[in-house]
Amino acid sequence: MNEKIVVEARNIIKDFNVAKSTTHILKDISLKIEKGEFVSIMGQSGSGKSTLLYILGGLDQPTKGSVYINQKNLAKLNDNQMSQFRRRKIGFIFQFYNLIPNLNVEENIMLPLLLDGKKMKDYKQQLNHILEIVGLTERRKHTPRELSGGQQQRVAIARALIGQPEILFADEPTGNLDSKTGEDIMKLLQKINKMNQQTIIMVTHSNEAAQYSHRTIIVKDGQINNPIK
Ligand SMILES: Nc1ncnc2c1ncn2[C@@H]1O[C@H](COP(=O)(O)OP(=O)(O)OP(=O)(O)O)[C@@H](O)[C@H]1O
Ligand SMILES: [Mg+2]
Repeated sequence: MNEKIVVEARNIIKDFNVAKSTTHILKDISLKIEKGEFVSIMGQSGSGKSTLLYILGGLDQPTKGSVYINQKNLAKLNDNQMSQFRRRKIGFIFQFYNLIPNLNVEENIMLPLLLDGKKMKDYKQQLNHILEIVGLTERRKHTPRELSGGQQQRVAIARALIGQPEILFADEPTGNLDSKTGEDIMKLLQKINKMNQQTIIMVTHSNEAAQYSHRTIIVKDGQINNPIK
């Protein structure tokens, strides 16, 4: 058993059934990701990158095959353990931020912890620290509509980080941003990865963004298709 492996996928198959026909999206994906790695997943639109990311993060189930996080098979967790896993072990950053419009920056960041029964006052320091890291201290009382796209994405990153997850999943974190803002977000992710040895798994279309990761997994025709070195 290799203790360094935090995410392992074994022979993942994913089929979608739509209107009586079945499409085979992931055809046999196996991979291992070590603690502290920063990995990008690339591939054409529709190749199944988001599907793979959701399966790795336990937000969706494979049709066949298994995902292990810290050597634990996600399929063996009961509902309670699964929601604990989602709240405490992983952070998710989505392409479209998914912020709550009528909550301010602080409230959006704290939301996962508040839903987990935690008290705002016990997290004051951590909140201040995270606002500092993402550069939003001055904007903590603003609502999402008062922020730029890059600032909104930084709120989403802070929200994914506040629970100190072991693994951060990001689906095209720079997809909706101009190149300068995208670069800032990538530098922020790189800093987070280095600072706490936080594992990051990121889907991206951007070669520039992928440069910030340690390695790239290419998905093609439902399989991993990396050039042989
Ligand atoms: N819930 C679903 N039901 C049916 N089909 C789905 C579902 N989710 C995804 N698909 C299909 O699976 C394929 C892969 O989708 P996915 O979103 O994983 O692609 P992607 O590689 O992330 O693409 P993009 O780069 O455009 O985001 C697509 O053909 C999509 O239509
Ligand atoms: Mg996608």
